[in-house]
Amino acid sequence: MTDFRYDVLIIGSGAAGLTAALKLAPHLRIALLSKSTLKQGATYLAQGGIAGVLNEQDSIESHVQDTLIAGDGLCDEEAVRFTVSNSQNAIGWLIDQGVPFTREANDTGDWNYHLTREGGHSQRRIIHAADETGKAVSNTLTDLVRAQPNIDIFEHHLAVDLVIEKQPKRHTIGAYILDLDKSRVDLFLAKHTILATGGASKAYLYSSNPQGASGDGIAIAWRAGCRVANMEFNQFHPTILYHPLAYSFLITEAVRGEGGKLLRPDGSRFMDDYDARAELAPRDVVARAIDGEMKRLGSDFVYLDISHKSPEFIEEHFPNIKARCLELGIDITRQPIPVVPSAHYTCGGVMVDQAGRTDLPGLYAIGENSFTGLHGANRMASNSLLECLVYAQSASEAILAINARTPEPSFEFEWDESRVTVSDEDVVVSHNWEELRRVMWDYVGIVRSDKQLNRAKARIALIRQEVAEHYGQYKISGDLLELRNLIVVSELIIQSALKRKESRGLHYTLDYPEMADTPENTVLTPTHVTR
Ligand code: FAD
Ligand code: SIN
Repeated sequence: MTDFRYDVLIIGSGAAGLTAALKLAPHLRIALLSKSTLKQGATYLAQGGIAGVLNEQDSIESHVQDTLIAGDGLCDEEAVRFTVSNSQNAIGWLIDQGVPFTREANDTGDWNYHLTREGGHSQRRIIHAADETGKAVSNTLTDLVRAQPNIDIFEHHLAVDLVIEKQPKRHTIGAYILDLDKSRVDLFLAKHTILATGGASKAYLYSSNPQGASGDGIAIAWRAGCRVANMEFNQFHPTILYHPLAYSFLITEAVRGEGGKLLRPDGSRFMDDYDARAELAPRDVVARAIDGEMKRLGSDFVYLDISHKSPEFIEEHFPNIKARCLELGIDITRQPIPVVPSAHYTCGGVMVDQAGRTDLPGLYAIGENSFTGLHGANRMASNSLLECLVYAQSASEAILAINARTPEPSFEFEWDESRVTVSDEDVVVSHNWEELRRVMWDYVGIVRSDKQLNRAKARIALIRQEVAEHYGQYKISGDLLELRNLIVVSELIIQSALKRKESRGLHYTLDYPEMADTPENTVLTPTHVTR
């Protein structure tokens, strides 16, 4: 057993964690953790880009209004204004770090950044690096983090739970971390801890997300006593490639932004029947329309067609998608792409203020695991990387402002493994992992009802019981910890969905198809912790 001491412990190395690490490193000693490699998060997979007010045709007001409309009455306008107002700075910082965003020559021969368009945006305002924006951001920031002497990097280190000082203040002073290579739990002590663990979309069987999107930060914060909000708003991306050999491959919304059309299997268009904005309606509308068409026609997919654009245009804007599809025998310059919706983004999360502060002193949450109020009932495309950057900055500023007055933490190591053994039945984990994600997909998906939600609740309670017994008897493993967290977030999603007696944004229920007059967040307060 070893203990590690830092000023700041950052759990997660996506856009949020990397940005915070780089902002803090000139001043403080940082531990930056990833349960996998540094680049294995949703950030690396981001295709479309980052939304921001970046030219004179656009305005802060327009970006704010689009976000509020997409959020269906539930955005916190202050959070929206704060985020959008900081977009230019945040993106400017990325440019200064060297992120190679796509440029184009304008009529006068000058080179500007190319801005694309996605659902819900009334303007072209999405800066991108072809169709691999996340890879460009991740590569650039990871190189910088590796070169920074004040940052110690811990890959394959998985945060299990927080270490909290006893009453009265319940200050967070670090976390128990499982070193996955050594199968050993270490104590990481820090004056400030930042959760930047990404979303929880792996609660669903079909998802665009990487394997690790198991909602760890949300579950960890909930167990420690933080409130979470709006967990019922799970965003389903409308267009994931449908192919038996392609696992979770996203077809960016920018394809629709650049003129891609959605088609029924017989080749007819359908989005006009659902919304005046057609293919550029916000994601909830498009995903529900696709789901409805697939159910009505008994079809396994619909098509997305961009083949009317020139091969040169497609190669320039979507080289990665073109190449991946071609590997699978689909030439997108000539053929439509078979697509289906799948779980993509967690709009809810750990409740934070404008500086990413949670309910517990010393604990911050930034990026997809947080709930800032920006997204409301439906996140507008490409606003999430922006949120990662803006709140990483504000949380870093808050930490720097109080660091000198924050005492060094002290704590006795308490992890006790004397009564557990190595598991001889890992099937409990693999079976329940499968079952949970299937239950969530079938009963807590795009269209919901109380009957189905209660069915899911009962099934997951049984899974929780079985996994809790396993947890108490056997040494912990990465898979077991992720499953334990997925159970927590799934229960939070169901509980929140049952509380919402209306349909709004991403939450659509057959029992309450209308929208309530007064929009309200669903705030869940833990009762298992004395606060
Ligand atoms: P992530 O990038 O997901 O990183 C999470 C980090 O936490 C990882 O390093 C992981 O290893 C670590 N971690 C998790 N749990 C633990 C633990 N217990 N212990 C230690 N480490 C842990 N948004 C946009 O704005 N524009 C886009 O174009 C866009 N495209 C997308 C495309 C895809 C396919 C996907 C899946 C998402 C897309 N999104 C996009 C959403 C956006 O990418 C994510 O919301 C954002 O990247 C989240 O960043 P993050 O830093 O919060 O978390
Ligand atoms: C996409 O490129 O379609 C994803 C954008 C996002 O999730 O914000």
